[in-house]
Amino acid sequence: MHVRHTTVLWSAIAIAIISCMLFDILSVNKPEIPKPIVCPPLDTAAALDRFRGLISYPSISNISREDHVNDQKVFRDMMAYLERSYPRVWKHLKVEQVGVNSLSLLITWPGSNSDLRPVLFVSHYDVVPVTPGSEHAWTYPPFSGELADGYVWGRGSLDIKFGVAALLEAASTLLESYDSGEAEEGKEKTEKEKDGADSPFRPERTIMFAFGHDEEVGGNHGAGAIGALLRSRGVNLELVVDEGGSVLLDGLSPFTRRPVAMVGLAEKGFATVEVTLRSPGGHSSMPPTDGSSIADQLWQLGTALKEHPTRTQLQSPVTDMLTHLAPYTLGWLRPLLKRAELRPVRWLVGQLFRRFGGREVAAMVTTTLALTRIRAGVADNVLPQEAVLLYNIRLLPGQEPIQAVEHLQRAVGFARVNAEVRLLDEGNSWPGSQVSSSNDRHFQLVRKAIQETWQFDGQPPAVVPFLLMGATDSKHYAALSHGGVMRFVPYAMNKTGGDLGLIHATNERVRNTSFSQGVCTYLRMMQLLAGSESALQSVSASASTSASGSGSQSLV
Ligand SMILES: *[C@@H]1O[C@H](CO)[C@@H](O)[C@H](O)[C@H]1NC(C)=O
Ligand SMILES: *[C@@H]1O[C@H](CO)[C@@H](O)[C@H](O)[C@H]1NC(C)=O
Ligand SMILES: *[C@@H]1O[C@H](CO)[C@@H](O)[C@H](O)[C@H]1NC(C)=O
Repeated sequence: MHVRHTTVLWSAIAIAIISCMLFDILSVNKPEIPKPIVCPPLDTAAALDRFRGLISYPSISNISREDHVNDQKVFRDMMAYLERSYPRVWKHLKVEQVGVNSLSLLITWPGSNSDLRPVLFVSHYDVVPVTPGSEHAWTYPPFSGELADGYVWGRGSLDIKFGVAALLEAASTLLESYDSGEAEEGKEKTEKEKDGADSPFRPERTIMFAFGHDEEVGGNHGAGAIGALLRSRGVNLELVVDEGGSVLLDGLSPFTRRPVAMVGLAEKGFATVEVTLRSPGGHSSMPPTDGSSIADQLWQLGTALKEHPTRTQLQSPVTDMLTHLAPYTLGWLRPLLKRAELRPVRWLVGQLFRRFGGREVAAMVTTTLALTRIRAGVADNVLPQEAVLLYNIRLLPGQEPIQAVEHLQRAVGFARVNAEVRLLDEGNSWPGSQVSSSNDRHFQLVRKAIQETWQFDGQPPAVVPFLLMGATDSKHYAALSHGGVMRFVPYAMNKTGGDLGLIHATNERVRNTSFSQGVCTYLRMMQLLAGSESALQSVSASASTSASGSGSQSLV
């Protein structure tokens, strides 16, 4: 009797799980799809020329220099170039040269309602150097800004002069009516126009742009100073939009092959921890046999770190990434992804990611420790008395640099080696970021702007949150932001084609077609995030409020 009851119970549970999975697999439950909008007319060739001109300035930042840049004159000339190229922005908006040596820009477009917190668009115009000796390997010279073969070529094209040029171009486009005598002003407004989608665009919420000049070396002189300035002025931000993800044309294997726009809702923290090992040293002809040599200690420490790895933690925003991918994923993965927030699923997927996901995926679920430098030894025949190891650590959201130090201290204990552990350069370390919400209206509005302006065979890309492995200037503003940080640049990349590897590398280049599309996405973000309150509220109600009955609408 008892046995039969248990059997029935288990059968019922099994049937429930299987039906649940079958339902998930068979049901097509895609999120609401906004209708595309028609981007405002843009002289694409001229806009691309302005962007290419910006690339021609070798605005290299340099941590070895006190002023953080190789040549201040290049930056000053570049700022003058921006003023010449986007005169409407300089004419109608408040432009301040800020930061150390006034090499960064803070641009303010005052909104009509000063009760609303401003939205801040962040980018930077410093670039990383071109590796000496690699210049000849470039198909087109690194500071040429060449337009060829479907790309704009050059250092900074992807990281991230694209953002600076496209944001200024979008603002210029929205400001066009300010110059043209406001011909539309007296005209009777239609319902559609009252929704805030028609010209002239007057933001209700203040829009700010912050362009830093030393992001690639930490951003303290640029974004750090701008953040401090905003704080001193008592500015509280509604939202920060910074660089981060992009549109992946070929999707996100193995989940989906349809294009995916990745929006970074968090970024990893950064720390460098120094471990100093000591040993008696001596003549190399008689190395110690008791494990006290530097070589043995290195081996022991390495083994201890392998045996006691950092914890595997599948947490937000990686869980949000999975749940947002679920509707676009086919087969048995969908039921799993849909439930990515459940504890057992988090545990299971976390283990799978760490063990079988490869380096990119494993880094999403762990704080990583990478031994990046070893200094030891003075001569071929002398046993070293000291070895200095530098571990570069990338911290998961919510973790502090001190936790990395403690982890290494524990490893030193397990390894029973003679070592000192300390955090190196505290000013150049920071915790894993806060995680912005993927459920609130900020994310919804950003998603809407992306899906309205990017279409592939009549379908918008999936918009998916993710955890950014690198660091951005947004860390200098995040504490001021009520709605967190959305990290996304509106250009397209082909992951399997190796585009992600072009950032900071030889032949850095961006698709020429992405530029006008990116301008349109930024423009739409400005309208949605800073336009009338009705636009802010209508987003969750229905996608059709922003698109006319004919299927699409004109923006400006
Ligand atoms: C950075 O500055 C240092 C010190 O002035 C200089 O030696 C070095 O060449 C610079 N790096 C680059 C890539 O220009
Ligand atoms: C982009 O490049 C392709 C291929 O070279 C070219 O056919 C197209 O006209 C270019 N588009 C723009 C806007 O420059
Ligand atoms: C991406 O690159 C791969 C490999 O070069 C290519 O086969 C594929 O067609 C590209 N996809 C897109 C959407 O460009």
